[in-house]
Amino acid sequence: MQTLLSIITKQMQDAFEKAGYDKKYAKVTLSNRPDLCEYQCNGAMAAVKEYKKAPIMIAEDVVGQLKDSVMFENIEAVKPGFINMKLMPQIVSDFLTDMKKTDNLGIEQAKNPKTIMVDYGGPNVAKPLHVGHVRSAIIGESVKRIARKMGHQVIGDIHLGDWGYQMGLIITELKKRKPELPYFEEGFTGDYPQEAPFTISELEEIYPTASAYAKEHEEYREEALQATFLLQNGHRGFTAIWKHIMNVSVTDLKKNYKNLNVEFDLWKGEADAQAYIPDMVERLKDEGYAHLDDGALVVDVMEESDTKEVPPCMILKSDGAALYDTTDLATLVEREEKYKPDEVIYVVDKRQELHFVQVFRCAKKTGIVREGVDLKFLGFGTMNGKDGKPFKTREGGVMRLENLIKEINDEMYKKIMDNRTVLEEEGKATAQMVGLAAIKYGDLSNQASKDYVFDVDRFTSFEGNTGPYILYTIVRIKSILTKYTESGNTLENISLLPAQNDSEKALMLEIAKYNQIIETAFEEIAPHKICAYIYDLANAFNKFYHETKILSEEEKDRQASFIALISEAKEVLEACIDMLGFTAPERM
Ligand code: ARG
Repeated sequence: MQTLLSIITKQMQDAFEKAGYDKKYAKVTLSNRPDLCEYQCNGAMAAVKEYKKAPIMIAEDVVGQLKDSVMFENIEAVKPGFINMKLMPQIVSDFLTDMKKTDNLGIEQAKNPKTIMVDYGGPNVAKPLHVGHVRSAIIGESVKRIARKMGHQVIGDIHLGDWGYQMGLIITELKKRKPELPYFEEGFTGDYPQEAPFTISELEEIYPTASAYAKEHEEYREEALQATFLLQNGHRGFTAIWKHIMNVSVTDLKKNYKNLNVEFDLWKGEADAQAYIPDMVERLKDEGYAHLDDGALVVDVMEESDTKEVPPCMILKSDGAALYDTTDLATLVEREEKYKPDEVIYVVDKRQELHFVQVFRCAKKTGIVREGVDLKFLGFGTMNGKDGKPFKTREGGVMRLENLIKEINDEMYKKIMDNRTVLEEEGKATAQMVGLAAIKYGDLSNQASKDYVFDVDRFTSFEGNTGPYILYTIVRIKSILTKYTESGNTLENISLLPAQNDSEKALMLEIAKYNQIIETAFEEIAPHKICAYIYDLANAFNKFYHETKILSEEEKDRQASFIALISEAKEVLEACIDMLGFTAPERM
């Protein structure tokens, strides 16, 4: 279904042409002065140069063509040359009725669906999942859902950090603690134990201990590097340990992501890319893309227009070891082979931008990805504490995801139980839902690239631009709908009448923006635009609600129309929060 904006634009284009002006000037936008009008067109000002006329004259010519249009309740030319429009209430209510008839609340499905891969999450196995990875998970999940809503085929890949030095560290520490394990016995040919030699909490302690120890002890560090090298070259015992680490960690990660309502289609990682490295390296050498620089194998990716130096892509270190660049390139080789994506979106800390510039350039230049494949980097900023520094626990340590969620949920639970008497069980479940909304909305409502302050008090507030406020609005609508049906009415076949007052029309106009907003949020990869939209929509609903007696309205058709309106508002709000990755409870 077309957006309301494009329907109005079409009318405006016709009017420009009929009045003898080029239709390229007929750009319509939402009004930035809602007190004066709903939509506006500033094209007359832009057309001055070409037609050498006062802009107000052009605007008047155009408005003259539209005076009798059924679209507008009011359209006028205003000095110096604005065209201000107010839509006929019937046009808006009809648009909402049409929207409701579609499967997707008016969102036009992609005619040529693309295969889009979203590379997000990116946790490092065996290291605790901390808030640094939360942003990637939250933003990536939303990006994935928005693209799916638009009808594309979207594959979410977690891209685990599962192949680095941390593995060598764990192996070394484990050997120090339990040298008798068969994994360390040279020439052992029997079966290794099924059971992992550690639990997740032991594993989480082993890594930081080993990492700290290695910094102080050169010999230990060497051993860990050697263990990493042996693992990467297929050492049997170490591979068995690696598998244990993977099993234990992935189980734990799945639990954590489930709590965040984040789901991946693929659980691949850096380790999966290793098989693609040798052939890729051979080809880069054979075709002359790669050359030796100080013993290292590199591909130059500098371009003429660069104002800053872009260092070459590092393919192999002088000792032959693969690097982060290598893994990401080989992952693209694998993705090309298996999924042939039209687009890959990387949702990663913005401090890694240069790495991705290098990888993207190298992949395109060397033909690792087909011509026309869109490689996009969505870099996000840091989540800071109230002191403006990277988020820490009260004790000053790195905040772990589980604790962060717990802190928010406890706060939410207190609020919910203070508010009214829900049973403890329901209170807990509700606190979880609202807590998740607080975290996700708090994050997503900021433009991804910006740093933001994680403020538990603000994020958990039921008022203002917060997740809980949005949920509270949805719950309020649900409760009105329940009361309406409980008094013997049905929600089937109720029709929407044109708005009779400003707050009702304002609510309709907000709902009508839905397909437009989602299109933009998709094109610009900008979940924050959905947050801004639902905040406006929730405000429009609440204003309408305070000014309208819905349940005591005596005229039945009018009442049914109110109900149809707020139920459509609820549907839109729910579709939006689903794209943001959270849901609303029945009560709160
Ligand atoms: N594991 C990496 C880290 O924690 C993030 C991975 C991002 N994705 C990628 N394809 N490089 O920094």
